[in-house]
Amino acid sequence: MKSEIIRKLKENNGYVSGQQLCEDLGVSRTAVWKAIRRLRDEGYQIEAVRNRGYRLLGIADVLTETECSDRLAGCRLGSPVYCFDETDSTNIQAKILAEKGAPEGTLVIAESQTSGKGRRGRSWISPPGEGLWFSLVLRPQIRPSVTPILTLVAAMAAAAGIEDVTGLKTRIKWPNDIVISGKKVVGILTELSAEAQETHYVVIGIGINVNMTEFPEEIQKTATSIYLESGTFFRRSDIVTAVIKRMESYYMTYMATVSLEELRDEYMKRLVNLGREVVVMEPQRERRGICEGIDRNGCLLVRGEDGNVERVISGEVSVRGIYGYV
Ligand code: BTN
Repeated sequence: MKSEIIRKLKENNGYVSGQQLCEDLGVSRTAVWKAIRRLRDEGYQIEAVRNRGYRLLGIADVLTETECSDRLAGCRLGSPVYCFDETDSTNIQAKILAEKGAPEGTLVIAESQTSGKGRRGRSWISPPGEGLWFSLVLRPQIRPSVTPILTLVAAMAAAAGIEDVTGLKTRIKWPNDIVISGKKVVGILTELSAEAQETHYVVIGIGINVNMTEFPEEIQKTATSIYLESGTFFRRSDIVTAVIKRMESYYMTYMATVSLEELRDEYMKRLVNLGREVVVMEPQRERRGICEGIDRNGCLLVRGEDGNVERVISGEVSVRGIYGYV
């Protein structure tokens, strides 16, 4: 009912009478009043005026089930939505839900994470109010060995979704960091549950630095936020829903052929490493080469000094620019 009330208030610029809401929703006045109170608790500013009704005063930056479900109505991904004020990690919660049978498309969002997880065992700083920390459950019927490609698909979705809302030019640092002006603004952590040839589920966790005004000194040179790059505070619900919509479209394209063939050109247009000298770092050795793009399996193509092109598989190595992060 909360979603329907919000939808009706958004459709109407002016007041919607309590009576009207009761009739449209087929509920009592008390039920409407209780739902309005819960919406206010969630952060919506709703004015109530005697003899006129209810009116929405602007749309706050609320990350609630109501707000997200409303914007993602009709989408395959992004339903159901679970929103936490605080949780350990949305990836952990998404995995718990997936183990209990949560369907493909389940979305878990948190205002803040106490144990946000980054790649390579690192932690991910996830303070409240400033960023987007969310995870999506997918159940693709594909071999476990090809699931890492979904991380590249998610990177495309995050880059395009952010660009749709903010107009900022986003690039991808292979395989899945999103950078703006050479600094990281999004990190993606994909986790897999599978056995032998069968994929049970994939959890794609995305962290987006949206409205941070500063970063700790140790990451100031490599991290940025949408606010720092644009000078504008964006509503996080606009961004998360844009990313999920893009993900739905790219995911369907990918699943149609289980290859990046159709998406490769678009990925390469955003690839910040393209044509640059990169350092491929393995635990035992480092190699340099020129990045020539990706293949249909998402491997990075690097031409070495001997002229041979090497296929670098994501997850096994780290790739840097010769002068630093990109
Ligand atoms: C990276 O190291 O670049 C990946 C960072 C991924 C962070 C996101 S925030 C939402 C989700 N929950 C987590 O614990 N991690 C991912």
